[in-house]
Amino acid sequence: MEPLNQYLETNKERFLNELFDLLRIPSVSADPKFSQDVHKAAEFVKEKLIAAGADNVALCPTDGFPIIYGEKIIDESKPTVLCYGHYDVQPADPYELWTSPPFEPVVKDGNIFARGSADDKGQMYMHVKAFEAMLKNNALPCNIKFMIEGEEEVGSTNLEIFVRNNSEKLKCDVVLISDTSMISNEHPSITTGLRGLAYLEVEVTGPNRDLHSGVYGGAVANPINVLCDMIASLHDEKRRVTIPRFYDDVQDVSAEERAATAKAPFDLAAYKKDLDMDDVMGEEGFSTLERVSIRPTLDVNGIWGGYIGQGAKTVLPSKAYAKISMRLVPNQSHEKITRLFETHFESIAPKAVKVKVTPHHGGEAAVTPIDSKAYLAAAKAIQKTYGKMPIPLRTGGSIPIVTMFEKVLGTQSVLLGFGLDSDAIHSPNEHYGVFNYYKGIETIPYFFSYFAQ
Ligand code: BES
Ligand code: MN
Ligand code: MN
Repeated sequence: MEPLNQYLETNKERFLNELFDLLRIPSVSADPKFSQDVHKAAEFVKEKLIAAGADNVALCPTDGFPIIYGEKIIDESKPTVLCYGHYDVQPADPYELWTSPPFEPVVKDGNIFARGSADDKGQMYMHVKAFEAMLKNNALPCNIKFMIEGEEEVGSTNLEIFVRNNSEKLKCDVVLISDTSMISNEHPSITTGLRGLAYLEVEVTGPNRDLHSGVYGGAVANPINVLCDMIASLHDEKRRVTIPRFYDDVQDVSAEERAATAKAPFDLAAYKKDLDMDDVMGEEGFSTLERVSIRPTLDVNGIWGGYIGQGAKTVLPSKAYAKISMRLVPNQSHEKITRLFETHFESIAPKAVKVKVTPHHGGEAAVTPIDSKAYLAAAKAIQKTYGKMPIPLRTGGSIPIVTMFEKVLGTQSVLLGFGLDSDAIHSPNEHYGVFNYYKGIETIPYFFSYFAQ
């Protein structure tokens, strides 16, 4: 690996500058205002894959944003790694909470501050640069395919169609994904489980129009009051979700896995300090790490209605809304959970209001094996560059396509993430360590070399 490390050292600055160019493109997939920029980011990825030396690079149009494909097949008899990542990002709002503009990347205290720096542009681009380094140094030990999408943050709706239609072209022995995080740089970890997701919106209607809150207040259902009652009733005093049959399909996690999680170097005091909270809160009988990994949850993501402008307006509103997400664990079906929610939510609504539930997107949870050749190659690669064996740990976020790859391609994934839980992804001031960026580019070739052996 000597010439390779030399190459990384020589090209360090350019690798960072190229990432900065990508981070300057505000490729927010959720907001139509940025649609042009999402296409620009797709173009960028395509050009860089070509420049790195990939063959058959294609910008594949979909009904949404394009998927970028590229490959280098060195020998059909050798194993094939499919690198997946995404070039779209979450909205940067609220802008005023950023200490520097979200699409003007800067390095502060060793971190790259920009929307998408960790999720997932910085992590995805490590693979492009690691590939370039391997290729330029005659050190690519097996076949590689790239599939980089632009709709991950909005549910990957068109990716599944693409994968189904191109399953032969995408055939591979493992899917390699860097879109997760580690506990800390001192305690490297590999993600072995992700939660699923059911996301929906509810609308509660009281009277047919906004009313004078004095003339009608007290006699007419206030949809905001009612919605608050309904939402409050979705948890019991043990902070368990009260939707009937919600836990029916949840699998018990083995005592060994729970014991291993308990031994992970998680610092609760630091966690609380980081979030400025005197205490944590969650389901009785489970630790913080368990609450965010092996347990399903229900959270309100947004709630609105009534008058929120300047000053006071004495109004009894006609409508109230909320966006609600449920994080799911293996064996829970997001479709079934969505139906259970709908039935329950309608059943608890008082007759004085009407409710409407609109499902958005969803996805299933995933667990990845820790005894596969690919996992062991990833663990060995981390050990090589971090000097420590990584801890296998489940995490709370969702990457629904992991289960889809399993179903459609029959291929397992390795979640080799280099971010940190503290990177503030989806939040203001998202950042990614310069150390982590370079460490990823250094580690990925070791994965390839151990996996190809
Ligand atoms: N990269 C994240 C998922 C993630 C982050 C997993 C950190 C583990 C640790 C991904 O981009 C993401 O944000 N996924 C969404 C789901 C998607 C369907 C919108 C999520 O988890 O909210
Ligand atoms: Mn991501
Ligand atoms: Mn994300």
